[in-house]
Amino acid sequence: MRVLGIETSCDETGIAVYDEEQGLLSHALYSQVKLHADYGGVVPELASRDHVRKIVPLIREALAKADTRIEDLDGIAYTKGPGLIGALLVGACVGRSLAFAWNKPAVGVHHMEGHLLAPMLEEDAPEFPFVALLVSGGHSMLVKVEGIGRYEVLGESIDDAAGEAFDKTAKLMGLDYPGGPRLAKLAAKGEKSGYKFPRPMTDRPGLDFSFSGLKTYAANTIAAEPDDEQTRANIARAFEEAVVDTMVIKCRRALEQTGFKRLVIAGGVSANTRLRSSLAELMQSRGGKVFYPRGEFCTDNGAMIAYAGLQRLKAGERETLAVKGQPRWPL
Ligand code: KG4
Ligand code: ZN
Repeated sequence: MRVLGIETSCDETGIAVYDEEQGLLSHALYSQVKLHADYGGVVPELASRDHVRKIVPLIREALAKADTRIEDLDGIAYTKGPGLIGALLVGACVGRSLAFAWNKPAVGVHHMEGHLLAPMLEEDAPEFPFVALLVSGGHSMLVKVEGIGRYEVLGESIDDAAGEAFDKTAKLMGLDYPGGPRLAKLAAKGEKSGYKFPRPMTDRPGLDFSFSGLKTYAANTIAAEPDDEQTRANIARAFEEAVVDTMVIKCRRALEQTGFKRLVIAGGVSANTRLRSSLAELMQSRGGKVFYPRGEFCTDNGAMIAYAGLQRLKAGERETLAVKGQPRWPL
């Protein structure tokens, strides 16, 4: 089985071709980061328009790179939600229409299922069951994963997502959008300092997260401290350590609760090196193992949607002829 995957939920147009036997055959990505940078965040209307501009050329590119003709495809998968409705509808319209025109089955994929299964694209892929920490710009959640479609959300953010907290704190520090990776770069230059950022919601049982208080703590610290590069780097480091510590504590709890030995981290924030090394240490100390996608598949991409879509098609799932996007959609 060979599937074309389409991702357009936010500000990346991602297209890929995945083959059940041969694995990932190609992927093409266009990031709109530059387009939105001037506005300090994603402007939904501009995002939709740019997806319209890029989607067909990228589909052509991905099919050509995969040496795949239309008749070689067994289905089309597109991100159906959650995400920006205008952006989602571009992928859904194109995906559903091509499937109709080419007489192929179509399937709508949950964006977070895509992230969750992204480590399956790697050679060293995890076996089921595992605990997944999904941390992106829009979501933070811990999920008990027992198989394809067998997901139980153990905890999630009650306010800002982890990536959102990174981005908002970066903005407070005068860093350009998208701030997460820039803040991480600045934090790498930071020295150990006395800043006492809280570890939110770790003083009580449960697996939910809350990150908006860290952003406020950062705002107050920035306002109270001198405005020089080293001080900012120290604050960035203290902020990052607080986010990472909090996630490590919650992951440990989730592993204790489930008894699982495998941990997956995915979503944009899983590109963070401090998070990766801290979770690797945690898993080593527990005699388990951590799995993550390669850097480019941590953030949004078409490969994860093609993979998840193939699994769903194999399970017999099909979209109706209606073109649907689902901006809110629980996992
Ligand atoms: O998964 P993703 O590409 O898009 C969503 O589905 O939201 O995640 C993007 C998020 C942004 O908030 C970005 O700042 C964050 O991931 N991010 C990082 C790093 N790289 C990306 N946050 C912290 N450290 C990083 N190295
Ligand atoms: Zn995402």
